[in-house]
Amino acid sequence: MSEIQNIQWFPGHMTKTKRKIQSSLKLVDAVAEIIDARIPVSSRNPDLAEIVGSKPRVVLLNKCDMADPNATARWIEYFKANKIVAIPVDCKSGKGLNKFIPAVKEVLAERIAAWKNKGMVNRSIRVMVVGVPNVGKSSFINRIAKQNRAKVEDRPGVTRGNQWFTVAKGFELLDTPGVLWPKFDDKVVGEHLAFMGSVKDEIVDTEQLASRLLEFLSVKSTPQFVERLKLAEVDYKNMQGYELLEVVARKRGMLISGGEADTERAASMVLDEFRGAKLGRITLELSENM
Ligand code: G4P
Repeated sequence: MSEIQNIQWFPGHMTKTKRKIQSSLKLVDAVAEIIDARIPVSSRNPDLAEIVGSKPRVVLLNKCDMADPNATARWIEYFKANKIVAIPVDCKSGKGLNKFIPAVKEVLAERIAAWKNKGMVNRSIRVMVVGVPNVGKSSFINRIAKQNRAKVEDRPGVTRGNQWFTVAKGFELLDTPGVLWPKFDDKVVGEHLAFMGSVKDEIVDTEQLASRLLEFLSVKSTPQFVERLKLAEVDYKNMQGYELLEVVARKRGMLISGGEADTERAASMVLDEFRGAKLGRITLELSENM
């Protein structure tokens, strides 16, 4: 699990982060905003538009290997309708990453044409990555860098510690992502991030969280959910979350002395299996509800 996700955000910290990102923004032509395809609303920073300003942006719907493919396709359409270029990617396998450079060139088309007109033929395109913790920023950078890990040496004027590497001829990426805060004061956002494991499990009640998740999952009712949690003969649609958690514990043989259901163990199991997409490819937030 990423270290970065354990950062606690305070107002001072947010201001500092914002300034740091804005100073890096001066060095780039475009921004790659990474979000989680399963929760495209909750995994976005609420202030991004203001932070990024007029800098062209490409949205990467990452972890699409774990999201519902139909829902992802609809999200792409949603972004398109809102004049935002978005592409589905899977940074674990690298799927979809070949669309990244063309997408950046698309949002920069006018600028690239202007450079050409001015005779700036060797002008490199520079991009930085931003996103809230756990969306896959490091995975993206590592993946895309692997293809060409030739680092560009430090340039004068570039903030110390920042490194650039060449992704393709004339295309450079800043190797440090901008880590943004989520809209954590929103209860639904907090819960969805917790489902995904983006909030430390130590600070949430896992039984309560798993009970809530089971209620969501029983609505989606994927074949994997029914099969893996052994619910084929259970009237799970009419059960409360905690009741369902007890049933799952029993069905999976998780009992404590006296034959009581081990709901704590079952809760960890449900969360683990969901986070590993073993209960199906599930998108919790749909573009239709926007
Ligand atoms: P961050 O920099 O934005 O904080 O995210 P990071 O790259 O650390 O990714 C967070 C977790 O998400 C990692 O799992 C990573 O492997 C996983 N991940 C990133 N992109 C994808 C993707 O497209 N598909 C899938 N299935 N997983 C992805 P982890 O459990 O924290 O670590 P590990 O399992 O890689 O060791």
